[in-house]
Amino acid sequence: MAPVPMPSALTFELLGKCSVTKARAATLHLPHGPVPLPMFMPVATQASLKGLTPEQLEEAGCRLCLNNTYHLGLKPGQAALDAIGGAHRLQSWPHNILTDSGGFQMVSLLKLAQITEEGVRFLSPHDGTPMLLTPEHSISLQNSIGSDIIMQLDDVIVTTSPDLVRMKEAMERSVRWLDRCIKAHKYPERQNLFCIIQGGLDLDLRRECTKAMVARDTPGVAIGGLSGGEAKDEYCKVVDTCTGLLPEKKPRYVMGVGYPEDLVVSIALGADMFDCVWPTRTARFGNAITDQGVLNIRNAAYAEDSGPIEEGCRCVCCRSREDGGLGITRAYIYHVTAKETAGAHLLTMHNVHYQLNLMQRAREAIIEDRYPAFLRDFFAKLYDDKS
Ligand code: GUN
Ligand code: ZN
Repeated sequence: MAPVPMPSALTFELLGKCSVTKARAATLHLPHGPVPLPMFMPVATQASLKGLTPEQLEEAGCRLCLNNTYHLGLKPGQAALDAIGGAHRLQSWPHNILTDSGGFQMVSLLKLAQITEEGVRFLSPHDGTPMLLTPEHSISLQNSIGSDIIMQLDDVIVTTSPDLVRMKEAMERSVRWLDRCIKAHKYPERQNLFCIIQGGLDLDLRRECTKAMVARDTPGVAIGGLSGGEAKDEYCKVVDTCTGLLPEKKPRYVMGVGYPEDLVVSIALGADMFDCVWPTRTARFGNAITDQGVLNIRNAAYAEDSGPIEEGCRCVCCRSREDGGLGITRAYIYHVTAKETAGAHLLTMHNVHYQLNLMQRAREAIIEDRYPAFLRDFFAKLYDDKS
């Protein structure tokens, strides 16, 4: 029996493919405007990105950011979201929002979360009352949030778990939960539901899961259960195996990935979308992401450094005053970062710009079919040229 096609609120416009690797460049047309792919999505967990105003996030070029169902469902809560008219209004964000379904956050944040066929049981972090997040409830919350891309509730376990029986159960349960999510979804014509492929590091489980998910024909596909401390070669094999079985004309999102070197490699393996809290979190520890690697600007070596955070960077902090920027020096960041929030704000702006710009550079290289040379240059700068 042919599957009933699912309504979709997106179009995937493929612009170019690398002739050597599996890298693709595309434009993803979403309800709140077009998004260039490949894309890194900054994480604004509680409808606010720590260290940036929505205006600054927009100014950095972000057109798709991530919110979390679990956090928004607790505060402001579903009634307030319905009254306000969703998360776009709440944070005055005219561009796209993707929400994660919430289960992963409970499992990773709350050690007390318990997974059953019904859903994820946990104790409210506010008052300890027992709560249950089901696939239906997660979708209902995401319908109230009004995000452009909504994620299925999935059963996530630690990637490196040796328990294959539990891994298979989680993978199969994630498929059953996808079916419940599809049934519960009220607005498929304006919100895109993505499935999430599970199966740990076992390639057969991943293949089986990918086929089952593809048959459900969701508008986009995510690869989950990674970035949990697995070896890089195992990570690559999983992404490569999954993308090899996915339709060309749908976006592919690898969840929880954000180190620049992982982004450029995952793009070569055929992935298009990524998210991670690391770039913004590490800024709050005084770290700047650059082509030469991560620099800790709290290091006394920068106390008298009058250069920008990264030479040649076009972010608003690094650009000179003459060039319309703020002309921030490393010495200034060094001076304020330990005690003042200003240093964290400035580094957050730089890091978000770095990630978005890296995706833009990758995209241009793919369109011009020089992605292998781009990769070589990227790694040469990162590992060899420490000047
Ligand atoms: N974020 C990072 N990994 C995952 C995952 O496997 N599932 C969900 N829902 N979110 C994630
Ligand atoms: Zn910069």
